[in-house]
Amino acid sequence: MEREKWGTKLGFMLAAMGSAVGLGNIWRFSFVAGNNGGGAFLILYLLFVILIAVPLLLTEVSIGRKAQSDVVGSYKKLAPGTPWFLTGFFGVLSAFLILGFYSVVAGWSIYYFTNYITGNFATQPAGGYEGAFGMFISDSWQPLFWVALFMALTIFIVVSGVKKGIEAANKIFMPILAILLIFLAFYSISLEGASEGLRFLFSPDWSAFSEPSIYIAALGQAFFSLSLGMGAMLTYGSYLSKEHKLPGATMGIGLMDSFFAIISGIVIFPAVFAFGIDPSSGPPLVFITLPSIFEQLPFGGIVGLVFFFALVLAALSSSVSILEVPTAYFMRVFNWSRRFTSVLMGAIMFALGIIVSLGFGIWSGVTPIGDNGILDSMDYVASNILLPLGGLTMALFVGWYFTKQQALEATDFTGSAIGNVWYIIIKFVAPILIILIFLNALGFI
Ligand code: PFF
Repeated sequence: MEREKWGTKLGFMLAAMGSAVGLGNIWRFSFVAGNNGGGAFLILYLLFVILIAVPLLLTEVSIGRKAQSDVVGSYKKLAPGTPWFLTGFFGVLSAFLILGFYSVVAGWSIYYFTNYITGNFATQPAGGYEGAFGMFISDSWQPLFWVALFMALTIFIVVSGVKKGIEAANKIFMPILAILLIFLAFYSISLEGASEGLRFLFSPDWSAFSEPSIYIAALGQAFFSLSLGMGAMLTYGSYLSKEHKLPGATMGIGLMDSFFAIISGIVIFPAVFAFGIDPSSGPPLVFITLPSIFEQLPFGGIVGLVFFFALVLAALSSSVSILEVPTAYFMRVFNWSRRFTSVLMGAIMFALGIIVSLGFGIWSGVTPIGDNGILDSMDYVASNILLPLGGLTMALFVGWYFTKQQALEATDFTGSAIGNVWYIIIKFVAPILIILIFLNALGFI
């Protein structure tokens, strides 16, 4: 059977932007930035995006486009008879880990959205938003229903195929998402007290740079946010034809993703400060603080509805790219149908989601890494370790396994001056920086 392809280059760009823009920009960005000093974190994050992530995004997409295969198959095809393909399994593993917890947070988002539809959350529920959230996530059964619903939606889109499912859904989701978030940002800036939040986000506290953990946090966020290092972008790239030029497209995706991260920072922090809430209240930031803020606003019930609708759309356009990674791999290896493969992979991810969800209830005492619970531990391993490791191996593959000519050709950079800069970055700068940040996080520097 012939391999699937995107309908248009725009379709690819929207799908890739859809993958990049997600819970990472809104939910994860806001609490990681909040925990790591706001402005200082933003500077490092943007620096890593420009210096490491965008050049690597081009690298990752180009591997897929050149090989026209999945994350493991691409290495087998381009480097036959070598162990390079083993690095592809990092990607498949990360996909399970990430969608395992991503689907849980996305499930919470659908639950919130429905509560805004019914008007339940337009006013403080009994026990306040914190109590209501805590009660909801610690329940053994209720969250699972929403996680299952989210996985079913994700599977539905992936089953429908690359062009008719993923591309079609993103063509609808992305414009709506952009409009909703920009509307929310304007609304948030107009709040009284907004300037303090903007200051937190845009004027750095320089002393935060002396914290070693801020570097790995910013790196992990850059990778997570750009869907980098696990093969989602590689797999999406593999549905592109050679005639579509890559450098401009990947720059556009990087810019758009950072733009959305900043926009959601502008949505969240002014509101957080306007209501005197601690910006480092962690993962629940979006689910506890925002509803309390919405409640006090004019038309807050509608703003909440719009916000959580946007969050669900953003999550869905990303989760399809995560599910597509193992789906593309297992479809090829076992010759299974797309329908069977995506349902099976989705079911396994849902099973992981059950574990993550119970981590907020009966298993809340389980702390696999340090004092991190199940979700935080999976997120830490996937985002701060596996994704940068995946990115590092991609940079080494294109920078050192390919000849310079092959590398420039794969990225449509033959004869370009910027191409030389890109090449130096992926051959030397990005790998060295990633290794330094790892060493720093391990306490060696
Ligand atoms: N980039 C997505 C977000 O910011 O929500 C999450 C993600 C998608 C991470 C795909 C990794 C990935 F491969």
